[in-house]
Amino acid sequence: MSDVSPAEVIDEAARRRTFAIISHPDAGKTTLTEKFLLYGGALGAEAGTVKAREGRRSATSDWMELEQQRGISITSTVLQFPYRDHVVNLLDTPGHRDFSEDTYRVLAAADAAVMVLDAAKGIEPQTLKLFEVCRDREIPILSFINKWDRPGLQPLELLDDIEEQLGLTPTPLSWPVGADTEFRGVLDQRSGDFVRFTRTARGSTMAPEEIVDPERALTEEGSLYEDAVDEVGLLEAVGSSYDEETFLAGVTTPVFFGSALTNFGVRLLLDAVVDLTPAPTPKPAQGGEPRPLDAPFSGFVFKVQANMDKAHRDRTAFFRVCSGRFERGMVVTHEASGKPLATKYVHTAFGTDRETLDQAWPGDIVGLVNANDVRIGDTIWIDEQVAYPPIPSFAPQHFAIARTTDTSRFKQFRSGVSQLDEEGVVQVLRDRDLGDQAPILAAVGPMQFEVATHRLENEFGAPVELSMTSYSVARQTDEASRAALRMMQGVDVLDRADGSMLALFESPYWLDRLVAERPELTLEPLIAGAS
Ligand code: G4P
Repeated sequence: MSDVSPAEVIDEAARRRTFAIISHPDAGKTTLTEKFLLYGGALGAEAGTVKAREGRRSATSDWMELEQQRGISITSTVLQFPYRDHVVNLLDTPGHRDFSEDTYRVLAAADAAVMVLDAAKGIEPQTLKLFEVCRDREIPILSFINKWDRPGLQPLELLDDIEEQLGLTPTPLSWPVGADTEFRGVLDQRSGDFVRFTRTARGSTMAPEEIVDPERALTEEGSLYEDAVDEVGLLEAVGSSYDEETFLAGVTTPVFFGSALTNFGVRLLLDAVVDLTPAPTPKPAQGGEPRPLDAPFSGFVFKVQANMDKAHRDRTAFFRVCSGRFERGMVVTHEASGKPLATKYVHTAFGTDRETLDQAWPGDIVGLVNANDVRIGDTIWIDEQVAYPPIPSFAPQHFAIARTTDTSRFKQFRSGVSQLDEEGVVQVLRDRDLGDQAPILAAVGPMQFEVATHRLENEFGAPVELSMTSYSVARQTDEASRAALRMMQGVDVLDRADGSMLALFESPYWLDRLVAERPELTLEPLIAGAS
């Protein structure tokens, strides 16, 4: 490794902001992402959102076709762009709660989240689910109330919704002046200014902003401005002011109003991401000791994805840099196997394209191409050994036996099933007697099965038939408890590829009784998934 001073690593880490956007489908996550890129200069000054969107949609892989048919986003992408003197890493998360385990893994690599709400809908079921995942990960959340250019709920109603449904105290940092077609701008609580926006055609360029002094605002905007000022006064009186400590602890959420489509409020939100969300901090290793940012390079893998698009039929393991400088070509140690790993082919996604990457710093996300033995949760390092804690799995609630309907494709079926397991598309469980003939696919949400069967058929040419089982709950168990559990009716014990074991139960009541009556059996709960 060429020389790098500790101060340089610390400086580069301090410039990074790594965050994810979560939202219910249709709230505007894609639009906001595109606008962030626009403000980050990554789309070029004039770049149209339409172009970016069409570009993205034409980059189809087989399972992206499925996304389009269902109108959902399954794959997560990583985008990096410069903003002010910072480097922003934006992690996209799937919007559907059936993929909340994937979201959980992505959030393991994020330092903060932006939660996008639709002004007309407030908290929606999948916002709630994804928020719970954020809460589990204890990361700070900024809230963006989007589509303020359209008819929506009252701002105070929306704040109540956040408070009541999420148990998160909203602290507005921007307050809308006007709404719907009369949305003029926002009172920026951080600067005290009234920021007035001007629309541009379809929001393809940044919205021109003007700071308007109170006197002029009163003359030009009249009651719209007066009402906003009154409301802000009211909020201050009830103590809804921004507080850094409670924000970082995930107890309060700064709220921003705007419209991603017309770019109103996008800059203020991006400024807040940079100014308020935390820079990378030293990550605790197994055993609890954090590895300093300026220690030699280390990172952990939070996502594995194959066949992302037809132009790149390969397998990419995404890792987050936790310490030191990563340089392309570096030979790192893969902690799980103890083997050296060459890193010649790495990339990041800059804007919407892949770009070869030469170096990365704490907080950055790197895609390692064709590192076939690397799994989700694995640690890689140089010089000084480190192991980061594994990313826990969610408790699956749906279990289906998979068989290929074309026995001549059995080999492809087997390798496809392993691939999906490694990516965490579904969890794969095997009966010791049946092995790969009839693996059980386990999912948090049933839509994971659709993705799995679609990919097995289209990417691996192995048509599959799934038979749903009556198991509904799983616990982690061990060899010592296995024999006793297998003797019981309505219980099965199956193996995972990593050597761990899951006990499946048809009846949660039966499980509860067992836990109470047979304390000698190992029945460890997993993280609760979608419900
Ligand atoms: P998602 O990724 O969260 O699923 O949402 P996406 O950005 O795709 O936005 C969903 C729809 O909401 C899109 O309309 C988008 O244009 C619209 N939208 C997003 N932000 C705003 C906003 O601030 N104001 C208004 N009025 N609309 C907004 P669509 O008709 O589904 O797609 P398109 O035809 O515009 O591409």
